[in-house]
Amino acid sequence: MSTSTTNPNKALWEKGDFTHIAQSMRDSGETLVRDLGIAPGMRVLDVGCGDGTTAVPAAQLGADVLGVDIASNLVAAGNARAREFGLDNLTFQEGDASDLKDLGDEQFDLVVSIFGAMFAPRPFDVAKELVRVTRPGGRIVMGNWIPGDPTLVAQILRISSSYSPPPPEGFVSPMTWGVEDNVIERFTAAGVPKEQVSFQKDTYTFNFPGSPPELLNEFRTYYGPTMNAFEAASANGREAELQAELDDLFNEQNRSDTATSIPATFLRVDVRH
Ligand SMILES: C[S@@+](CC[C@H](N)C(=O)[O-])C[C@H]1O[C@@H](n2cnc3c(N)ncnc32)[C@H](O)[C@@H]1O
Repeated sequence: MSTSTTNPNKALWEKGDFTHIAQSMRDSGETLVRDLGIAPGMRVLDVGCGDGTTAVPAAQLGADVLGVDIASNLVAAGNARAREFGLDNLTFQEGDASDLKDLGDEQFDLVVSIFGAMFAPRPFDVAKELVRVTRPGGRIVMGNWIPGDPTLVAQILRISSSYSPPPPEGFVSPMTWGVEDNVIERFTAAGVPKEQVSFQKDTYTFNFPGSPPELLNEFRTYYGPTMNAFEAASANGREAELQAELDDLFNEQNRSDTATSIPATFLRVDVRH
């Protein structure tokens, strides 16, 4: 009998293959990174980096970039992309945003986490770790989906969770990272004065060369939370209902006549350390 324990957070993201979704997010990742004042030689950490939607453009601007992600398949995919782009200033390694134990204190000028650290357990530990690894005078930028927001990803996550079994007791929803008061509470507990935490609403656009149902199929096949929702729905005979609900969502939100382009609103958090 195996004695290894399963980390459900890691298992969720290794279950699928987020690289398929990430391909529709590259344009927005580049736009966001261009706005961060990255200069050659800056030390940048990307937490929950996936296969490098933001880490790659940061390295292309000349920063020394480390991407950390809990999913070993995405770390491997990120390192393959770094090689493909000839970026020897970009490395990916496995790690957990709740406990960045391989990283020393005050190592980074800029710590970025776009829809990444929000999915880690123990949000107060996450804030503490992000602050710990940032040098005094440095900056942390998070992108977090917003609960109750009517746009794509918040709705995918809402619909997916309504078909999934209830989370274990004590589970803190990742969506709480999209609530300003929660974010302030977590960073002030990590020692950052409230005045040094600011917010703005921003947009990521999912661009996909196929139709909205084809993009939905990518989520159904490769995106852990949606895969789990379909498994639970099919066990309860509700698969067609979930498919119809998500089909409506993707079709209604599409802004392109020829392919798929869906804007999604998120909360951008800027922390001055
Ligand atoms: C929605 S994806 C976003 C990936 C990437 N930031 C991007 O913009 O394409 C969420 C990412 O967070 C990672 N993740 C989830 N929990 C994590 C944790 N505890 N520590 C580090 N990464 C985590 C997942 O493996 C996944 O790559």
